[in-house]
Amino acid sequence: MDKAQIGVTGLAVMGRNLARNFARHGHTVALHNRTTAKTKALVEEFGDEGAFVATETAAEFVAALERPRRLMIMVKAGPATDAVIAEFAPLLEPGDMIIDGGNAHFADTRRREKALREQGIHFVGTGVSGGEEGALNGPSIMPGGSAESYESLGPLLEDIAAKVDGVPCATHVGPDGAGHFVKMVHNGIEYADMQLIAESYDLLRGAAGLEPAEIAEVFRTWNTGRLESYLIEITAEVLAHTDAATGRPFVDVVLDQAEQKGTGRWTVQTALDLGVPVGGIAEAVFARSVSGHADLRKAAHGLPGPARRATEGSGFADQVERALYASKIIAYAQGFHEIAAGSAEYGWDVDLGAMATIWRGGCIIRARFLNRITDAYRADPAMATLLTDDHFAQALGDAQDAWREVVATAARLGVPTPGFSSALAYYDSLRADRLPAALTQGQRDFFGAHTYRRTDRDGAFHTLWAGDR
Ligand code: NAP
Ligand code: ATR
Repeated sequence: MDKAQIGVTGLAVMGRNLARNFARHGHTVALHNRTTAKTKALVEEFGDEGAFVATETAAEFVAALERPRRLMIMVKAGPATDAVIAEFAPLLEPGDMIIDGGNAHFADTRRREKALREQGIHFVGTGVSGGEEGALNGPSIMPGGSAESYESLGPLLEDIAAKVDGVPCATHVGPDGAGHFVKMVHNGIEYADMQLIAESYDLLRGAAGLEPAEIAEVFRTWNTGRLESYLIEITAEVLAHTDAATGRPFVDVVLDQAEQKGTGRWTVQTALDLGVPVGGIAEAVFARSVSGHADLRKAAHGLPGPARRATEGSGFADQVERALYASKIIAYAQGFHEIAAGSAEYGWDVDLGAMATIWRGGCIIRARFLNRITDAYRADPAMATLLTDDHFAQALGDAQDAWREVVATAARLGVPTPGFSSALAYYDSLRADRLPAALTQGQRDFFGAHTYRRTDRDGAFHTLWAGDR
């Protein structure tokens, strides 16, 4: 039998669909799963889609692969990934590749890459986005690891990736943990995008008095313009959906407590370590956290504040659209700042414009808007912030009045908009002449002799405050 070009171990929803995707593109795929029944089930159900080599033991799996071997792991991130690497690495030879497509933390990927590099094995930590459907029909793929490994692996990944205008949504991101880092930030941006959409819905309901089905229509309209994206599209679907059991809008019967698997939190934790302000992403993570604190919400329920009233008229949806677009620009600017900072810290040399290109299809945040980001970085790869790009600067300028009006309306009616509000505060902070940080420095010098710098002279200064004497 022909040797397989790639092997996939871990045949749950993601692994089985990636394996089928490789096979559908004419590659012979070796299959392996801890529980062998899953391997058999895949071949029985989908064996006619392409060439599969079902294996039961690790030795059989490795023997089924052509050299250099390309062995892809799609198991639960964390200890399971280490266990699988420990099982397979001793069976591999120098030049072989282990590709981890799970949602690993980039620090784990750096550790694993270093250890395997010492054995001559390429470890390719790869972000894979698009969920079950994307894995089968074309995900966005963000591979890290050595450039040499990408030469051998890249063509296969580009084959199975989503394509936009004929361009594959896969490219080499950079060494060691770069791919998983970029996937992590992708998820952080996804959190922010979802939070801003949720706030838009809440405002249209709470301040304009629209019903979910009417709001679905607003989102459908938005999806024909500059906000066109997968998340806006599915928002309209969810809002238009009626609960079969009660006949009520589906969104009204769902418990209002959002869950999270952790990549949004990692994005914020990493940003804190790197000193990168990602308030929009952090607010999105915290908003899910607040929603989940049923105890706090119960205790605080009924505290004084304004009631929601339909004070806003037909022009409000347009104002919210502007606020949403402006806040979305901020969230992406923060995410790209984090990628740039990670790239500088770890020496990855990530091409920021290329990241926007490979997110245009396959992944959850796919959007028309991403073309603008690619264009912006092509025009000026060293740009300090996306906000100064001509298109984005103009969009933010145009959104000004509406954005401020929406945030003010939200505050007046007691509709929480942590995403919109923090995005606006970030914008105003960056464009300000002076920030009150000068006062903060004065306080720090007062209570801790931490010193301050001056606007008119170089050096560190300390004032002898009254309390010092
Ligand atoms: P999953 O539920 O995260 O993992 C299940 C797979 O891991 C099964 O094949 C299971 O084998 C295997 N496994 C678990 N512990 C193991 C161990 N100690 N040794 C060997 N195998 C072990 O599956 P998934 O949802 O397909 O996700 C796979 C990876 O892709 C995860 O890292 C996930 O975060 C990532 N990912 C998921 C999505 C998504 O939308 N679901 C999207 C992108 C990335 P058994 O069958 O024997 O239990
Ligand atoms: P993708 O990049 O394809 O979007 P992902 O990063 O695994 O795939 O997850 C996408 C979204 O699906 C994330 O928002 C994630 O959850 P959280 O919002 O809770 O972090 C969610 N998700 C992924 N795997 C999941 C699982 N096994 N159970 C529940 N939610 C999951």
